[in-house]
Amino acid sequence: MAAQITTPSSSLRDITKIERIGAHSHIRGLGLDDNLEPRKNSQGMVGQGKARKAAGLILKMVREGRIAGRAILFAGPPGTGKTAIAMGMAQSLGSDVPFTAIAASEVFSLSMSKTEALTQAFRRSIGVRIKEESEIIEGEVVEIQIDRSLTGATKTGKLTIKTTDMETIYDLGTKMIDALSKEKVLAGDVVSIDKASGRISKLGRSFTRSRDYDAMGADTKFVQTPEGELQKRREITHTVSLHEIDVINSRTQGFLALFAGDTGEIKPELRAQINSKVSEWREEGKAEIVPGVLFIDEVHMLDIECFSFLNRALESEFAPLVVMASNRGMSKIRGTQYRSPHGLPVDLLDRVLIVSTTKYEPEDIEQIIQIRCQEEDVTLTAKALTVLTAMAQSTSLRYALNLISSAQVVAKKRKPGPHTDSNGEAVKEGEVGVDDLRRCYTYFLDEARSVQWVGEQQGILVSDEVEPGDRMQL
Ligand SMILES: Nc1ncnc2c1ncn2[C@@H]1O[C@H](COP(=O)(O)OP(=O)(O)OP(=O)(O)O)[C@@H](O)[C@H]1O
Ligand SMILES: [Mg+2]
Repeated sequence: MAAQITTPSSSLRDITKIERIGAHSHIRGLGLDDNLEPRKNSQGMVGQGKARKAAGLILKMVREGRIAGRAILFAGPPGTGKTAIAMGMAQSLGSDVPFTAIAASEVFSLSMSKTEALTQAFRRSIGVRIKEESEIIEGEVVEIQIDRSLTGATKTGKLTIKTTDMETIYDLGTKMIDALSKEKVLAGDVVSIDKASGRISKLGRSFTRSRDYDAMGADTKFVQTPEGELQKRREITHTVSLHEIDVINSRTQGFLALFAGDTGEIKPELRAQINSKVSEWREEGKAEIVPGVLFIDEVHMLDIECFSFLNRALESEFAPLVVMASNRGMSKIRGTQYRSPHGLPVDLLDRVLIVSTTKYEPEDIEQIIQIRCQEEDVTLTAKALTVLTAMAQSTSLRYALNLISSAQVVAKKRKPGPHTDSNGEAVKEGEVGVDDLRRCYTYFLDEARSVQWVGEQQGILVSDEVEPGDRMQL
């Protein structure tokens, strides 16, 4: 069957992501130097040198296209930076290498089968770099003439455009007129118009107009009037994911589903057609495969069916690098009675490279706290920083990081003006001192105190019946 496979245009990629302050928003990369040696404190990353270096090595292989179809597992105690390192990898990958992050439990909560959800995640992580020839019109605008109908509802017009060698008049429809006025195109501008999409980009103002001072802003760029033919062919490349190609060609879904995120199940026959078409493009030199990274956090939440699917999928023709993270030790493989390291079946474990993360040293913790304070715009006094670092050691890093913003709220509630803490330290207005931290420490329980408190409430809180001494198996 001669399949007509269309690809989404590059403009789809223009949707910008909204940045907010989240748990990992301070991470801007892995903080490695050119030799992949971890810097002490760089790009928001501190300590955990071995794991960062391993992540850097893996990334290098991804960039060289040498590691598709492999799997990596970050294993270590909670709060040791597994998710943070994966986010750092995503930041250093470059814009056209796809990175998909999912939490294993998402696979169960979508309105589709587990394997479909995993397949979509796999295909989101494979990029197809497509080379396309497009026709453009490039020249200096000589004149724009617009005629409005009496009601103003319809507009027609003419655009006169030239190169150093020729001049042509084009008829304009309403859409083009709107596009021209949106870009504020004037006579004397050098523009490039994509014939297929009608997209107009302003390249600058023509040198011949450099004396028209009144039509100039401070950032006006002057360019030469183009030479030769008005219409040119130009090669452009853009990268889309296999999943985007799937969705756009899926008859029941179509283009809008990509924005809604509600893609439903996609037929295997369609995927097969797309795979063979993409292979064909690759052989003809029209497209390149860019294997990306799929990150599955909390991977022990997958069940035995998902694991066996992963085993197979990793061996398929289009497989990304799969990075997994887990904080479990010996635990049950979901869906079975068997226990296994990290809750992963041994045949999968056998295929993965395991990178371990370890607990942080006090100086690392202090630096992570400082970085988070900068990120959240909070100033701690010197003593407060020491106290919070000590708290992080006796409770957990996460607990301490959570206290930063709550302590700031408490600090803001103080009477305006400077104040002296109970330990004698002067605290400026807006700063967080030891007293503010102490107060928050009493408001919010950490894990150990919570366990103790629950123990004290025996018979008062409603509890599930458990055997004495039974604890959640980590
Ligand atoms: N090396 C590091 N440099 C800077 N920030 C870090 C580092 N390690 C962890 N953090 C920060 O500490 C917090 C906890 O780390 P993270 O969420 O990565 O832990 P995790 O290993 O994924 O734990 P879990 O097993 O509970 O998921 C996050 O806000 C993270 O950004
Ligand atoms: Mg995590």
